[in-house]
Amino acid sequence: MEGHISVLLREVMDAFRVLPAESPALILDATFGGGGHTESLLQLRDNLQVVALDCDADAAARAAVLQQRYPQRLHFHGINFAEIDSLGYEGLSGALFDLGLSSFQFDTAERGFSFRMSAPNDMRLNRREGLTAAEFLETASRDELVEAVRNYGEEPRWRAVVDAIIDARGTGALLDTTSFADLVARTAASPRKWQGPKIHPATRTFQGIRIAVNRELEVIEKGLPAAFEKLAPGGILAVISFHSLEDRIVKRFFRRMAGRPEHGRDHRSQMERTVRAKLLSGKPITPAEDELSMNPRSRSAKLRILQKLI
Ligand SMILES: C[S@@+](CC[C@H](N)C(=O)[O-])C[C@H]1O[C@@H](n2cnc3c(N)ncnc32)[C@H](O)[C@@H]1O
Repeated sequence: MEGHISVLLREVMDAFRVLPAESPALILDATFGGGGHTESLLQLRDNLQVVALDCDADAAARAAVLQQRYPQRLHFHGINFAEIDSLGYEGLSGALFDLGLSSFQFDTAERGFSFRMSAPNDMRLNRREGLTAAEFLETASRDELVEAVRNYGEEPRWRAVVDAIIDARGTGALLDTTSFADLVARTAASPRKWQGPKIHPATRTFQGIRIAVNRELEVIEKGLPAAFEKLAPGGILAVISFHSLEDRIVKRFFRRMAGRPEHGRDHRSQMERTVRAKLLSGKPITPAEDELSMNPRSRSAKLRILQKLI
């Protein structure tokens, strides 16, 4: 299996290069994955340590290998980044979130993230807890399914897809990735679009179910402020998101910390805002042409960076 190519690596390293090189640095990598960002951070300088997190046990095994090379400077914890508070670290110089899935997870059939390979419909980032996608589909209430398919998947034909899921309960069709994808494709694809669709008609629903199974948006809502609180003044927070639902949370949080209106309907006066950070990226940073041609999976990545003031 091919490894994971770290996204926006150059741009992320540049973000952390603004830290004073002579001072020891402690940086949180909240999403270790294949460890590419962590390793590049460790290579920046010898007086830099990384606290790395990942809730996937497979990532822990990769971290153990890297830890042998950096026994004093890499500290790995196999936890969800929503639980950052449970760690004792304070006064961090920086924090990085590279959200979503690694290629290791996408490309391993038995993880159930890809509808192109037949496998048990699992989709959990952390296989030690929670419901699998199949269990979720078999037991969720209609409202929970609507939230997943309509809100998280942004599937235009969500009503039909939710009905099809409920009708398929107990038949076995929800248990396997490809049979579930076929069911969704039959329901979501309009005959005309099916002639040449840009994306597979099950893509949106798979994304929505994955977000629901892992509570992906909730943990970002929790993890970002928790990491921000652990930053020292001057600390850098860098976040890479891969779809608009993630990016909206990041953007609003960054604007809130910078004392700016969070969205178009936020009409609070400036007196009601506190400026706790400076935005270092006005518009999100996206991959350059050379990265896009080398790694097509980077195409939807957006990097936002801020610096904590107080
Ligand atoms: C895009 S990959 C990170 C790749 C990494 N930056 C690299 O260079 O190899 C995202 C990783 O974050 C992990 N992850 C996603 N959500 C998480 C969460 N809430 N808590 C901890 N780890 C999470 C996933 O298991 C996955 O391994």
